[in-house]
Amino acid sequence: MPPLVPPPATISPQRSPVTTRRKQIYKGKTMDITSMAIIPLLLGSLGLFGLYRLLQRLRTRAYLQDAVVLITGATSGLGKECAKVFYAAGSQLVLCGRDRERLQDVVRELASMAKKTVKTHKPHAVTFDLSDTEAVASAVGEILKCVGHVDILINNAGISYRGTILDTEVDVDRTLMETNYFGPVALTKALLPSMIKKRSGHIVVISSVQGRISIPFRSAYAASKHATQAFFDCLRAEMQQYEIEVTVVSPGYIQTNLSLNAVTANGSRYGVMDKNTAEGRTPEDVAKVVLKAVGEKKKEVLVAGLLPTFAVYLRTLAPKLFFTLMAARAKKERKTKES
Ligand SMILES: NC(=O)c1ccc[n+]([C@@H]2O[C@H](COP(=O)([O-])OP(=O)(O)OC[C@H]3O[C@@H](n4cnc5c(N)ncnc54)[C@H](OP(=O)(O)O)[C@@H]3O)[C@@H](O)[C@H]2O)c1
Ligand SMILES: *[C@@H]1O[C@H](CO)[C@@H](O)[C@H](O)[C@H]1NC(C)=O
Ligand SMILES: *[C@@H]1O[C@H](CO)[C@@H](O)[C@H](O)[C@H]1NC(C)=O
Repeated sequence: MPPLVPPPATISPQRSPVTTRRKQIYKGKTMDITSMAIIPLLLGSLGLFGLYRLLQRLRTRAYLQDAVVLITGATSGLGKECAKVFYAAGSQLVLCGRDRERLQDVVRELASMAKKTVKTHKPHAVTFDLSDTEAVASAVGEILKCVGHVDILINNAGISYRGTILDTEVDVDRTLMETNYFGPVALTKALLPSMIKKRSGHIVVISSVQGRISIPFRSAYAASKHATQAFFDCLRAEMQQYEIEVTVVSPGYIQTNLSLNAVTANGSRYGVMDKNTAEGRTPEDVAKVVLKAVGEKKKEVLVAGLLPTFAVYLRTLAPKLFFTLMAARAKKERKTKES
């Protein structure tokens, strides 16, 4: 019978101070190694990101400096703010609207802006009505004679609408399409040949979240913006061979006079500042987004909060639910109107 050997003292559950210290040293070493790897990696990627952003900014600056930029609807709202940011970026502006006086006011306002570090150009002002195809064609002739070519066209002008489909005269539907759809289409077509000849150019259109989803009592507006979205998506594909860029910007509500200037079922001026519009983004902010999107040659940008963005996805992924929600919205709006 083997003698009972007592367990060796080294297997005691208590670690000897030596192993504990060794472990600590080991742990310390791994921490050293991780921190040694992570910190430079972090700094390195931050540096790379910073460098990437810097290069992007420099590229944007070079792209916009001295570029001929035509902006429609430059007399107010988003168009006017776009004029300010592109002017400050050193672009040669061609500002368009229907009211010569108000266009001249914008030109004066730009001239009085604090001088930036970049060289700025005195803007040209051209008046024409976008819903008049012949006027558009002759304006483009005049513009090309004056500035030679247009690098970036920003189709911004537009009008909105409020009314029920049942009450709305077809002429009002046509008015919306003439201004919001045929206007940009005619202007774009008139400028394309000169862009194709240069094999460079950039067409921008300010559509709307309502170019992606239709909300009740905005039929003519939503239809004109859906048409716009479709046309410019097609254009992007067809123009790639000529290296002409197309950017579609789809904002949600912006604090402008759009709802005041909207037309009603009988074509009269709506004249009300809607709550949604009054609580929207500032036109200054949206203009900055437009400038960045153009500088980075983005294909499209949705400039909207969580809820409208969600609605756009819902329309595609769960259309039945979207339709139910819109019907509920129509019912609610009708009730508040009747009360
Ligand atoms: N505000 C919003 O909530 C919102 C949201 C999404 C998208 N958008 C879009 O943003 C763009 C700019 O609108 P805004 O909000 O800045 O409204 P706005 O302040 O009413 O400006 C509209 C501009 O379009 C011009 N315009 C209207 N009809 C025209 C015509 N027949 N021919 C030439 N110019 C015409 C107006 O110029 P004159 O009246 O001086 O001629 C004005 O400069 C529009 O396309 C709009 O659909 C606006
Ligand atoms: C709205 O219209 C008024 C009066 O024409 C004008 O003074 C104001 O600047 C306009 N607002 C915007 C945001 O364009
Ligand atoms: C058009 O409709 C508005 C209400 O939206 C009404 O106040 C106005 O009198 C109407 N105008 C005409 C010419 O029918």
